[in-house]
Amino acid sequence: IPFTKHKIFTCNNFYLPEFCAKHLENFKNFQIRNSDIWIVSFPKSGTTWVQELVYLIENECDFKKAQQDSIENRSPFFDYPSPGLKHIDNIKSRRIIKTHLPISFLPDNIENESKVIYIVRNPKDVTVSYFHFTNLSTQAQFTGSFYDFAKLFIDGKVPYGPWWKHVDEYVSRKNVHVISYEDLHTRPYEVIKNLSEYLGKSLSDEKIKSIIEWCSFDNMKNNPSVNYEWYKELGLYKKSGNFFRKGKIGDWLNHFAMEDSKQIDEIVEKNLKTDIKFNYGIS
Ligand code: PPS
Repeated sequence: IPFTKHKIFTCNNFYLPEFCAKHLENFKNFQIRNSDIWIVSFPKSGTTWVQELVYLIENECDFKKAQQDSIENRSPFFDYPSPGLKHIDNIKSRRIIKTHLPISFLPDNIENESKVIYIVRNPKDVTVSYFHFTNLSTQAQFTGSFYDFAKLFIDGKVPYGPWWKHVDEYVSRKNVHVISYEDLHTRPYEVIKNLSEYLGKSLSDEKIKSIIEWCSFDNMKNNPSVNYEWYKELGLYKKSGNFFRKGKIGDWLNHFAMEDSKQIDEIVEKNLKTDIKFNYGIS
């Protein structure tokens, strides 16, 4: 697989990044709390967007507080060895934890013992965003073409793949709150209202509108606490390119040839078991 740095391994028919390999038992036995909020997605589905939304919902729209610390400190990444499970274990306040792990790798019954929010995005737009990301990240460095990457996606062999298995595992659980990236784009008010109700918060119209504004693509792209520009200083991202790339529905139209688009549609149709029809925007 043409990732120069990113090694992957298989477990239970999923392809996971190598950095997860040593921790599988620790993931499964992690002590969850009733108050935890888990933000889960297949990579490049809008996780960071939802992390910021949830942080604001939880902190009564305290924008100043949100601005003071990076999103990865306010909402740590579970899968990566840094900051590490021990660090997450020691957080005293309500935890907002990000993960891309399939639910079968997380503690049993997680969706009944804490809050689990799952984000779904059009798989073709995920492929495009993921391809660009693997070029931005110095840790992945995919050396093939977009077509090569799309082929890997179709074979289910990108990190955390196959996509359909990931989605199926989550959306089949009753108490998982599912959000679609495209709904968040087109009906943000409703999505944020439902999300805050799921989290047990009641937000005024005014607050919901101010969250929508704060979390617009342009605002987040220019917000140094969420835009991952600090990864460039750390050498984790190349200087060229941005984590906040386009933030659009349907960018796949600019990347996929029609017959490849058809092929991915057919594979998804064949493998995705859920009857839920997601709003993919342009599909
Ligand atoms: S990661 O690395 O898996 O956590 O990435 P993730 O945050 O899941 O996904 C990144 C993509 O989401 C887009 N994004 C947004 N789109 C619209 N509005 C807002 N506010 C927003 N925030 C993030 C981001 O631009 C990436 O998508 P692409 O298509 O590459 O632009």
